[in-house]
Amino acid sequence: MHLACSECGADAADDTLFCSACDGLLAFALDPGAFDPTLLRSTFAQRRLSNDAVDTSGVWRFRELLPPIPRHAVVTLRENVLPLYDARTGGSYADATHAAYLHLGMNPTASFKDAGMTVAISHAKARGARVAVCASTGNTAAAMAAYSARAGITALVLVPAEGISASKVAQTLDYGAIVAAIDGDFDRALEVVRSLDPGRVAIVNSVNPYRIEGQKCAVFALLEARDWRVPDWIVLPGGNLGNTSAFGKGFREALTLGLIDRLPRIAVVQASGAAPFAKLFHEGGDMVPVTARTTATAIKIGAPASWRKALGEVRKSGGTVLDVSDDEIADARAIVGRDGVGCEPASAASLAGVRILRERNTIGRDDDIVVVLTGHVLKDGAYATSYHESAAPFANRIRSTPTDDALRALIDEVTTARV
Ligand code: F0G
Repeated sequence: MHLACSECGADAADDTLFCSACDGLLAFALDPGAFDPTLLRSTFAQRRLSNDAVDTSGVWRFRELLPPIPRHAVVTLRENVLPLYDARTGGSYADATHAAYLHLGMNPTASFKDAGMTVAISHAKARGARVAVCASTGNTAAAMAAYSARAGITALVLVPAEGISASKVAQTLDYGAIVAAIDGDFDRALEVVRSLDPGRVAIVNSVNPYRIEGQKCAVFALLEARDWRVPDWIVLPGGNLGNTSAFGKGFREALTLGLIDRLPRIAVVQASGAAPFAKLFHEGGDMVPVTARTTATAIKIGAPASWRKALGEVRKSGGTVLDVSDDEIADARAIVGRDGVGCEPASAASLAGVRILRERNTIGRDDDIVVVLTGHVLKDGAYATSYHESAAPFANRIRSTPTDDALRALIDEVTTARV
């Protein structure tokens, strides 16, 4: 594995984050010649029987495909052990017969960020970093704080003072991070972080190529859980676009290694008020940043850092990019809940996107679809509460039972109701 610029291809040093020649993002390149796919598959499968910490992680179990990190530096919380649930209610909501949720919210800090963070913080520890820093809409912050706590590294997070989930901030504080609430949005916070010296602090936003390496392991875990059968579509929410880059890279590597024989199409779904990538995908040209506005606060991002990488991945996969309204996200989120699964608002952009792509017939009714859910339902309790208090189509109101009679009447109503 070697580190090089994802844009101009120039080799890069391990302690930098951007290409010294063109300022592009860095990426690891894998040497496919070194692996036998049959042996790889059986090695991965055998490790599931082991109780060794690195084998019980759904990231380190795939370590042949990761940049080398000494074992003593590995910081793991047994991340990326991922359930795949059939999406019954969600599938019929979107008029799709073969949809399943890949739930990345079922991770130690309840979002997909853990898969990348275990690698980025392990690398930081191996390098002897004392401080890790990130800009965040909440989930990266929580993940960085947890892994830093385990590594004995000071965590400094920059979050927008307004408009992110209080649960995520509380979680980050619990893990002992220093939280700086800035007067500005995520894009401003990332700008500040990017101006820091990566030689002095470990910058662990998804511009860090180690993050991408960890996150790509969700693809291997997914494929393994499907006995290496490739779905027709992978649909995921897009914010800063690190995860899109990671998923694209994971599938391409699986193809190059002979683990699979084709690529799935990748569909990226943005919130309408934060959709510069969707615009660019259809209109061409370079990224034109916007001031992001959406109630799906995790993806309230107007200048996605990884747009070039993500664009390459979506195009290579024959996929697409679209945007959905905040109301569509809200209803789709409630539907994911009705499946007994649940997710946070940004995650539900995926299902809202599938519904629209089915309406347009871009996705066929019988296509095999993986709907990626990126964060747990409890990540944003306030959002769920206000949805259920509203007049939204899938709102589920609390029943007021001020007296015993009222309670008995409700019990009678429920128990005598015809199914
Ligand atoms: N879904 C959730 C729940 C997220 O928290 C994020 C990003 C995304 C989707 C989008 O992923 O940025 O890789 O395209 N959250 C970041 C954060 C920005 O700070 O937690 P992306």
